[in-house]
Amino acid sequence: MRTQVGIVGAGPAGLLLSQLLHLQGIETVILERRSREYVEGRIRAGVLEQGTVDLLEEAQVGARMRRLGLVHEGIEISFRGERHRIDFRALTGKTVTVYGQTEITRDLIAARLGAGGKIVFEAEDVSVHDFDRDRPKIRFRKDGRARELVCDFIGGCDGFHGVCRGSVPQDALTVHERTYPFAWLGILSQTPPVSDELIYCHHERGFALFSMRSPGLSRLYIQCAPDESLDQWPDARIWDELRARLGGDAAAALQSGPSLEKSVTPMRSFVAEPMRFGRLFLAGDAAHIVPPTGAKGLNLAVADVRVLARALAEFYASGRSDLIEAYSDTCVRRVWKAQRFSWWMTSMLHRFPGRNPFEDQLQLAELDYVTGSKAASTALAENYVGLPLQ
Ligand code: FAD
Ligand code: DHB
Repeated sequence: MRTQVGIVGAGPAGLLLSQLLHLQGIETVILERRSREYVEGRIRAGVLEQGTVDLLEEAQVGARMRRLGLVHEGIEISFRGERHRIDFRALTGKTVTVYGQTEITRDLIAARLGAGGKIVFEAEDVSVHDFDRDRPKIRFRKDGRARELVCDFIGGCDGFHGVCRGSVPQDALTVHERTYPFAWLGILSQTPPVSDELIYCHHERGFALFSMRSPGLSRLYIQCAPDESLDQWPDARIWDELRARLGGDAAAALQSGPSLEKSVTPMRSFVAEPMRFGRLFLAGDAAHIVPPTGAKGLNLAVADVRVLARALAEFYASGRSDLIEAYSDTCVRRVWKAQRFSWWMTSMLHRFPGRNPFEDQLQLAELDYVTGSKAASTALAENYVGLPLQ
């Protein structure tokens, strides 16, 4: 088998890369370990920056997002039992859109398959070879048969636990990592959101987040211990905890219902650089992970792919490789800014077990400052709606 760009992973990064290249007349094949049903059923991120929305429109997959996405002009931050609004529109002129990653994935898979694009689902034992030479190869098994895909370039879009990053010689890679002493327990529930906007709650019992997917579907998260099992969290306990952390009249108004999905996400900051090794490019979670508090993971993956698609299109159109050579530096600078913001939001909003009470007071002072100062709330707002793409 032969293609121009072989892509490992059919998450948002791999699918969008394939779609953007297709629109430039460049052929791709995507190799995905999981089934289509699994990939389309995975519940993950939900908040899109304006730049992400614009890129999905440019990629001609914006129709359903335009119809079903919820435009949000701000968020609320709750602490000491009071809610404070950060008005993105007033502070930055920009907004964000709430539209699930699950829906983006479905839109992209439909677009690629509809245009005759090739996605090999349930590809087993994927491995990448010879990306330090002119003709990289991807080997895999499908239906028990060994196969080989020869390509010009490889897109390593296989997420944090994929094979691409680990195939790079380890002395060529610098890894920066931090783990946090807590996790998020998330549920999806067919209940109306408690508010029209997201509420990020700081509380002595721990962080909570009230988000949504649609007017009838809530997405809720609470801070829990990283090693807790779901058995310890029956739905009733989760709703009690959400109510306690939300407080006030809203807690009484919070409608509960059975969870449709329940999962625990560990919290980690991680950057591997550079993001290119010869003809292998890492993009999205394969190269970096942010803790979810800033809603940046998906948006960063999309931003990487935008840079990569342009670099490859330039190469195929003119033979120029300067954008390819700049790929890693261009992405990594932006990645670190999103890392900083995600770390800062995480530090400001979570309870750190066993921490010195002095630091707890600093945390409250920071929340007072961020919600009370126009300069400080503008800094939060401009990061949340998304920094310029380059
Ligand atoms: P992924 O979406 O991980 O896609 C990688 C793809 O590669 C997957 O389809 C995987 O099956 C495939 N793959 C992996 N290994 C192989 C292999 N060996 N061979 C072939 N295919 C392979 N971000 C937020 O902003 N907010 C959130 O609330 C949030 N929640 C999250 C919850 C969870 C459980 C996780 C894991 C992530 C969450 N994120 C969240 C992060 C966000 O979803 C990611 O940043 C985003 O999915 C990155 O997209 P990606 O395409 O780079 O990687
Ligand atoms: C959602 C996830 C986030 O990490 C976040 O910061 C905001 C919203 C969500 O899944 O809706």
